[in-house]
Amino acid sequence: MNTSPEVSSKEFWEGVLKSHWGIDAKLNSLPGELDQNFLAQEKNGSKYILKIMRTDCPDWLIKAQIESIEKINTKDPSLKAPKIVKSLQGAPFIIQTDQAGNARLLWVQGYIPGKCYAEIKQKTTDLSFSIGVTLGGIGKALADYQNENLVREFKWYLPGSLWIEKHLEVIENSERHGIISKIVKDFKEVLPKLSNLASQIIHNDPNDYNILISGDNYRPLNVSGIVDFGDICQAPRICDLAIAAAYIVLDHPDPEKMLAALVSGYNSIYPLSTQEVDIIWRLLRMRLAVSVVNSTLLAAESPSDDYITISQAPAWRFLEKLDFNEGLIRARLRSVCDMPIVEGADRVLNWISKEKGKFAPLFGVSLKNLEMKSLSAEKISVPENPFELTREEAKVIGTENDETDTIWLGYYNEPRLIYTAPAFKKGPWKASNRRTVHIAIDVFANKGTKLYAPMEGEVFTAEYRDSPLDYGGVVILKHTTPDNDEFFTLYGHLDPQFLDALQVGDKIDKGQEFCKLGGPEVNGGWAPHVHFQIAMTTDGMEADWPGVADPDDLDFWNSVCPNPASMLNLEEHDCVYNFNKKTEVLSAREKYFGGNLSVSYNDPILISRAWRHHIFDEWGRPYLDAYNNVPHVGHSHPRINLVASDQLKKVNSNTRYLHPLQTEFAEKILSKLPSEFEVCYFVNSGSEANELALRLAQAHTHKTGIITPDEGYFGNTTGALSISAYKFKKPNGVGQADWVEIIEVPDDYRGSFKKDDPDRSIKYANFVDGAIESLNSKGHGLSGFIMETFPSVGGQIIPPEGYLAQVYSKIRKHGGVCIADEVQTGLGRLGDYYFGFEFQKVIPDVVVLGKPLGNGHPIGAVITTKTIAQSFDNGIEFFSTFGGSNLSCRIGKEVLEIVDEEKLQSNAKIVGDFLLAGFRELKEKFEFIGDVRGMGLFIGIEIIENDGAESPELCAYIKNKMRENRVLLGSDGPKDNVIKIRPPLTIDLEDAQMLLETFSGVLDGTQDWHYE
Ligand SMILES: Cc1ncc(COP(=O)(O)O)c(C=O)c1O
Repeated sequence: MNTSPEVSSKEFWEGVLKSHWGIDAKLNSLPGELDQNFLAQEKNGSKYILKIMRTDCPDWLIKAQIESIEKINTKDPSLKAPKIVKSLQGAPFIIQTDQAGNARLLWVQGYIPGKCYAEIKQKTTDLSFSIGVTLGGIGKALADYQNENLVREFKWYLPGSLWIEKHLEVIENSERHGIISKIVKDFKEVLPKLSNLASQIIHNDPNDYNILISGDNYRPLNVSGIVDFGDICQAPRICDLAIAAAYIVLDHPDPEKMLAALVSGYNSIYPLSTQEVDIIWRLLRMRLAVSVVNSTLLAAESPSDDYITISQAPAWRFLEKLDFNEGLIRARLRSVCDMPIVEGADRVLNWISKEKGKFAPLFGVSLKNLEMKSLSAEKISVPENPFELTREEAKVIGTENDETDTIWLGYYNEPRLIYTAPAFKKGPWKASNRRTVHIAIDVFANKGTKLYAPMEGEVFTAEYRDSPLDYGGVVILKHTTPDNDEFFTLYGHLDPQFLDALQVGDKIDKGQEFCKLGGPEVNGGWAPHVHFQIAMTTDGMEADWPGVADPDDLDFWNSVCPNPASMLNLEEHDCVYNFNKKTEVLSAREKYFGGNLSVSYNDPILISRAWRHHIFDEWGRPYLDAYNNVPHVGHSHPRINLVASDQLKKVNSNTRYLHPLQTEFAEKILSKLPSEFEVCYFVNSGSEANELALRLAQAHTHKTGIITPDEGYFGNTTGALSISAYKFKKPNGVGQADWVEIIEVPDDYRGSFKKDDPDRSIKYANFVDGAIESLNSKGHGLSGFIMETFPSVGGQIIPPEGYLAQVYSKIRKHGGVCIADEVQTGLGRLGDYYFGFEFQKVIPDVVVLGKPLGNGHPIGAVITTKTIAQSFDNGIEFFSTFGGSNLSCRIGKEVLEIVDEEKLQSNAKIVGDFLLAGFRELKEKFEFIGDVRGMGLFIGIEIIENDGAESPELCAYIKNKMRENRVLLGSDGPKDNVIKIRPPLTIDLEDAQMLLETFSGVLDGTQDWHYE
């Protein structure tokens, strides 16, 4: 071995690796605190890890690591501990003198592909669960491994962490010092319990740099390996889980759920005891305290070493967050391990259920057979704005048609949109999660109705909470069962008069009158009712119980606050809200409808309400709707609601009777169009409108041939389908009709002539010449040209300026009619233009309108010139039964007025420009964004592969991930690789920001697929 100083350390160890292992590789340093680790890569790509231990490393430690790794690999190879690569002599490790003359222990491990967890972007609860599963598996595999050497105390031995107490002065910041002192104090409290817990040999350092993660494109990420067994020791096994937990919670928006998932994964493989579960939180914090004290000490010694402080900042960020609730975290961890959330909770539930029928009636009368009424997101339309319940709405909610003196009940576990105060919001955006699910039973009755205690209890809380939409008067009683287990009942929205009589600690007898229902003036502003809730614990909540839970956290809250029906002497199942579950609706739909009815997203959305540019699912979860262009002026617009119901009360008939609304609507539409347009026809859909447009062209020209760009869509009727290449070209499509000529779409990103070609407009327009010739030669002649002004299903394409002018001039030269389908582009969506043809500086002969015109009410319109209308007026009546109904005209006119009065066209410009600029920035960062195009709120983002080819797979992934993150987008284009964005015109900058940030996060997440 060449030990001369001229040979670099790397070359030296490369030589050692070659001579002892026969591995001819280049070495690259890896980070490590004490030992030297190298990635060794051979020319053929094979990789290994060479581990050169610190000079004072005892050989028993290497032996122990090797033994434990081999034990794990033998017991369960799926656990993916590293493989030990033996030397040419068959030794698992060797001793080699280094260049400085020190004996070093050396060993080699197989390389595990993956990224360390710390660098993963998509830190999901599923991934946390799988880390728990792996750690549980490792714990189980090591359960019978014994090694006396590993009974050792060192700084990372968690039960021995009190060594940091002597060094607390290194934490100079007084707040941080206080935090660590408190952690130490809390740790001391539980330390005696630690020695009673199951002890075994554990990895002892599953931190976020020692857990490797990998995942193929589009597949969920999973653990690919756990490395660095250097801290292995004998300790309570729970320490391994607590150490991993200490890193899993860092810098995560939902640390409690990540922790719960980790613990649940571990418990699913290697079941935990309640004592172990209860101690995790304190151990986790102590581990972080050790980590920050240790790194602060080391940083003082060698300020230039980055590795030392690598985890300090996130750890401090976590420790400085003080709003964690330890009692609830303990309950949550117990809950995911299927344990009673507090000692005795299971007994309490059994007892309550057995006592059903024997509790004193809360209202003095039986509540059996009373009506249950729903206040759910699905069943009621209050609040009108699901982001803001007004005080007027609260005052009468649920009582609209009530006779006095009736008592009725509101459901447990019912999702409601009536909780709109900031306290119910979770996360920064309107579409972030919010608490919606009622975890109590309501009993509505007249104000002043007396309440009687269902069983004996002690007053735990008697308060008046006077903020609007809070509880008003609220009482909590503490109860004790015959087994001496405690639980609590809460009564909200009371008349605070009880404050004169009730004191905390007062005893209340079973059946004793103790309070009355308050009216809105004292009960938080609600219609009179009691919110009746039970809780298995107040640990961590005291009097501040959530009455409403996040639907994505419902299992936990149901275990803290179970269904209180039994205490009202009612059956639980009668009082649980029974909404149509998504799977039921989906299967009913499959039963009753044709298989080619599609449903969006891998995980379809069951919708209950919508408002402006948000949609709510059955659980009241909000989604930003960045896709639906039909609710042009916003979902559930109050003005549309008002005029529709008003008109339905008056008259809704057809065009055979005179009514001013028809002409008023026509005048409003014509006011938006050039003066050449003088005649309107009203129909019910875009398809019907295009069908009529074709007839107008044929009637005017007495020819039948039609030219249209490829990949267009004009509707689902026979004629409209025949000109829709997007449909007829598909496998099993009807194919191209003889009278239809298709020309290339003027797509200057992907088509024959690209953006850099200044003559592309004329070149694309020239395709019309051949098409006209062909129609003439087949004897059809040219009746017209029809185009979606900006092709939408074709991939949100903006044709180059000047294109339509060239096309129209050619068409008109041959006597054809120019039809502009403005279904997607009309009515202000483009921001700068009310109609797409304005951008092209042309005036069509026929304009077709649909989708947005009725904001969801089915309205289509065809607008044309007097001359063409005269050609069509051939003595045969034109009649569309519902087209031009009084209702449709009233709604259509209102829509157009709202666009004007709410300045939605200029909003489309402002927000559209903001979005386009944001997406263009993202394009610079992510090479798989091939093109960002659009105008106003008509936007397309082309998703491509490395070689520029369309990437439908990635596009679908992005669309579905966005949906998971509460943003609804679509996809389209011939290869379905264009993200389609066309929200209601009400979308504002804040929501546009959410869209961009979420999009960026989803794209960022794809980096997790790229690892060595
Ligand atoms: C451009 C265009 N024209 C016409 C139609 C057909 O409209 P409808 O579905 O109302 O019949 C559509 C529908 O998507 C469309 O996008």
